[in-house]
Amino acid sequence: MKQLLKKMHGWIGEYMASFHTDDEEVQQGILIKEKHTGYVTANSIQLAKYLKLPEHDVELAEVIGLFHDVGRFRQYSIYRTFNDADSEDHADLGLKVIDELDFFNELSTEDNELVHFAIKNHNKKVIEPTDDERKILFAKIIRDADKLDIYRVLQPFLAQENADKMPNFIKGKERAEISPDFIENFVAGNQADYRKIRTNGDRKIVRLMWIYDINFAWTMKQIVRRGYIEKIVEALPMDSNVQKGVDRLREYVKQKCNG
Ligand SMILES: [Fe+2]
Repeated sequence: MKQLLKKMHGWIGEYMASFHTDDEEVQQGILIKEKHTGYVTANSIQLAKYLKLPEHDVELAEVIGLFHDVGRFRQYSIYRTFNDADSEDHADLGLKVIDELDFFNELSTEDNELVHFAIKNHNKKVIEPTDDERKILFAKIIRDADKLDIYRVLQPFLAQENADKMPNFIKGKERAEISPDFIENFVAGNQADYRKIRTNGDRKIVRLMWIYDINFAWTMKQIVRRGYIEKIVEALPMDSNVQKGVDRLREYVKQKCNG
């Protein structure tokens, strides 16, 4: 496995570099995904170790982190967007890339299926149902490792004063207020539908609601320690209903960190 991991790191490093370009905006997008891949891989390893998984499973978490967004590069080169709705699902596209790589057959059939399942489900609204507890576990690990890093990536742009510096591919609408249906869902603790985002306020609510989808105390503690929640809350247009949603969220975070 150590040999295989070395091969995988070497391959993906070269693969990502092959998308480098003189087009500044495209290059910015590629570099964000390259850095993201590195951080998510590191998060996955740390989380797997925190869960006291055996060495082989920590290595599987590493493989999943390394390849979870491999589809992003082909997606951007073909469609010039990271928006799945405007192109194709980047996780499913990533599996197509992976299936062109012979070295994935060096994994056992079972491990290969596990890696496929976790990558396929890293970005879906919910993890698809299965009786295989291991598949669920690894999907939960990559989902947490990914969200933790997306908070890092988005944090500077979620503060209102930086909205105009936001790259085109993550830019929201100009207005700051939160749409009534988003406030309603936030107060009720229901997941918001990101396809209905109409304002920058809606975008912040969607990112805050992700908190309810965090699986492990480790991840929640990292999010709290890095101040991601508070920075988004500070930038929210506040009223009494929004405050209710924030109170509910803070209570949930406290419980999750303790258990
Ligand atoms: Fe992704």
